[in-house]
Amino acid sequence: MTSKLLNEIVEKIRKELKGKGILACSGGTDSSVLAVASKLAVGDQILSIFVDTGLIREGERERVELFFKKFGINYKILDESKLFFEKLKGIVDPETKRKVIGQTFIELFEREAKLSEAEFLLQGTIAPDWIESGGKNRDTIKSHHNVGGLPEKMNLKLIEPLRDLYKDDVRELSEELGLNTSLQPFPGPGLAVRVIGEITGEKVEILKKVTRIVEEEIESSMKPENRPWQYFAVILPVRTTGVHGDKRSYGNTVAIRAIDSTDAMTGTFHKFEWDFLEELSTKITNEVPSVNRVVLDITDKPPATIEWE
Ligand code: XMP
Repeated sequence: MTSKLLNEIVEKIRKELKGKGILACSGGTDSSVLAVASKLAVGDQILSIFVDTGLIREGERERVELFFKKFGINYKILDESKLFFEKLKGIVDPETKRKVIGQTFIELFEREAKLSEAEFLLQGTIAPDWIESGGKNRDTIKSHHNVGGLPEKMNLKLIEPLRDLYKDDVRELSEELGLNTSLQPFPGPGLAVRVIGEITGEKVEILKKVTRIVEEEIESSMKPENRPWQYFAVILPVRTTGVHGDKRSYGNTVAIRAIDSTDAMTGTFHKFEWDFLEELSTKITNEVPSVNRVVLDITDKPPATIEWE
């Protein structure tokens, strides 16, 4: 027996999709729920596309491909890291980053839609995305890339079947559909909004390694119910003096961000045990020697947002 909510989403997709569609799948909970619901609704009339922007976490592409295969989803993976790094070169302003990334995604989707003769673009936008992107007469807090980051002119008709849902509704659907429910949220623009300042290949490589360590340490030492709701690292545009052996170092600074929340609209910073933080910091600086300083973000949302950009 499917739930009322799932039936409504499936019916919405059937009603709105009047032809072929492509679906932007980041591998996060929202777009993965949408991909499985779309498969139930219209089968292979939809092509799910995952873009490897080069700004994703280690192992992410492989994990998403396994998900597509497990659920029999019609999919395509695009290898576009070169394009994204070129487009983002020299950009420092966070909103410009988000807009450039949104624009580049749309250009790719328009290209792919042409190739597969699709007229519709399905996105897993949920309520907090458009509320915080300036919907309902609010000022824009940030342009979530699947809303405010979209160009004004787009040749595809947009379908957003999850747009009235909140994170906990999507989590329920995800459980019902048998998806991996332990996935933490990951922003559409990916690691781009966690490299503060200009994005370079070197910084992204450092951030990928630190992100993996943060995830592994939290997941191996805390039961799922004790873990923060979202946890990650940020690399700062700051170098500081350190000491490595008996030599001076002048290395990178990373910040640890861990938030307890239910809906991403508000949150409080996670109170880790000091011993855990000490181990985490030592592991990061040992395994990623170009990082010589680890700091902890102790700000709630509000006044901060969860992501730094
Ligand atoms: P903020 O930083 O706005 O984040 O407090 C709230 C939640 O949304 C995630 N996030 C995004 N998700 N596209 C998304 O799909 C985006 O552009 C985006 N920006 C932030 C963030 O990780 C947090 O869970």
